[in-house]
Amino acid sequence: NFTPNAFVEEMVAELKEKIQNDKVVLGLSGGVDSTVAAVLLHQAIGPNLHCIFVNNGLLRKNEFESVLHQYKDMGLNVKGVDASSRFLDELAGISDPETKRKTIGRVFIEVFDDESKISDDVKWLAQGTIYPDVIESVSVKGPSATIKSHHNVGGLPDFMKLKIVEPLRMLFKDEVRRVGATLGIDPALLGRHPFPGPGLSIRILGDITPEKVRILQEVDAVFIDGLKSWGLYDKVWQAGAILLPVNSVGVMGDERTYEKVVALRAVESTDGMTADWVHLPYDFLMKVSNDIINKVKGVNRVVYDISSKPPATIEWE
Ligand code: XMP
Repeated sequence: NFTPNAFVEEMVAELKEKIQNDKVVLGLSGGVDSTVAAVLLHQAIGPNLHCIFVNNGLLRKNEFESVLHQYKDMGLNVKGVDASSRFLDELAGISDPETKRKTIGRVFIEVFDDESKISDDVKWLAQGTIYPDVIESVSVKGPSATIKSHHNVGGLPDFMKLKIVEPLRMLFKDEVRRVGATLGIDPALLGRHPFPGPGLSIRILGDITPEKVRILQEVDAVFIDGLKSWGLYDKVWQAGAILLPVNSVGVMGDERTYEKVVALRAVESTDGMTADWVHLPYDFLMKVSNDIINKVKGVNRVVYDISSKPPATIEWE
């Protein structure tokens, strides 16, 4: 029987004991796990926790600024690093999904390594690893490990030479959310949908350009804001939009158009291992489709993904 209060009390004591006066670095992602890990560590060691939040240029619209602001308001010692151009430059011309993931993983490590050399007293790397991540990365022969390489699991490059601290590694997602609530973290942040580490790169099928990222950010924002204003966001486990590498013919006024197609995806799931597509109301889909086509220049067609996992996966890449 899991009690978040007792967990916080024991973990804070354990972290104090283990870390003493060492400095710790932690990469914040904007997601629930890294945020809860950071707040827990902050309670234990205060300003000795140095957080780094990297903008890889593949986050949701305005997410870097708004989440960075939110972290600062929470009292975390956080450095925002805008490495968008570096990531987008390195990704230019790459279409293969696994190469995208590997490139992002590599550049992230390079950026993080530069930024984490705060002082010689940094002895620890903290991570928001949770129990399902541990299981997935241990069962290397399991299906998910071989289908997609989740770059945020698997630890630390040798050259970083830091000890790892993972205060959430025995917890399930719902327990992490309960710990977060006990720590007083904003419920809106705790209720955020999962978002993949490689971000929008794996939702832009084919090669990635700054223009495609902009289009997808706009589409995604209309969709996600729509889910929120219709009271549907919390009923969905994860949602997002996918930019397809095809153009379709449309008509606007009496002009022929030949523009991008986007797919919308919303799934129900408990752990991401299996998922069902959500039966979103037709009225909602109609409104969102109209909004996307009217507001986002370059898109003339919206489709809704009605595939479940398995045999499809949640992401298209
Ligand atoms: P799939 O597409 O495998 O996704 O059904 C299951 C869950 O994992 C997320 N996902 C990733 N998360 N790095 C991540 O951090 C990745 O490379 C990655 N690929 C998929 C996906 O968003 C879903 O929540």
